[in-house]
Amino acid sequence: MSNMKNIVVLVSGGGTNLQALIDAQARGELGNGKITCVIASKADAYALTRAENNGIKTRTLIRKDYPDIASYSKAMKDMLTEEKADLIVYAGFMTILDEQVCNAFPNKMINVHPALIPSFCGKGFYGLHVHEAALAKGVKVSGATVHFVTAECDAGPIILQKAVEVEKNDTPETLQRRIMEQAEWKILPLAVKLFCDDKIKVLNGVTVIE
Ligand code: GAR
Repeated sequence: MSNMKNIVVLVSGGGTNLQALIDAQARGELGNGKITCVIASKADAYALTRAENNGIKTRTLIRKDYPDIASYSKAMKDMLTEEKADLIVYAGFMTILDEQVCNAFPNKMINVHPALIPSFCGKGFYGLHVHEAALAKGVKVSGATVHFVTAECDAGPIILQKAVEVEKNDTPETLQRRIMEQAEWKILPLAVKLFCDDKIKVLNGVTVIE
């Protein structure tokens, strides 16, 4: 296909969301997009092994090699430019980047968050902490959100959301797993396909999907 969009995936951990993207690509379900590079913020991220197993280029940009968020963000911006990224996907990427990066790639970065934004999001709400907070509040429904990344953490335009029931004996781990299986692994690849097929517009801070 002509004009394929280069998808660069940012990871920090296990990479099950990356795996969902790889599997969707293998089924021909990423539309006009192709995963061209995976960048990890941690050298031991298992997500890197998943990429290598599938012949995808990997790079690392280790957060603790940089003194502050500004210098790390600058290095990330340069790496994404080098990789000619058309779409940048945060798939369990646990480092907050500053506005230089989203300003360089406006409405071209998307994140998957394991809750129904605006609940249980923002600084400190990542990974299992999100599900601990949801269970502590006693919510009966949680879920996942895919949204554009802006300078404000977890506050960019919402693209897709999917609700998931909380069950009586849920632990943070069981709730996390159900939200991944029933929501994240479905709506992340779908949002990527919609983006790569130019189906998402942003109007006054709100997305419109064709
Ligand atoms: C996922 O649940 C993802 O939504 C969450 O971390 C997990 C990563 O798992 N991301 C955040 O909390 C970002 N704020 P994975 O490495 O297996 O995809």
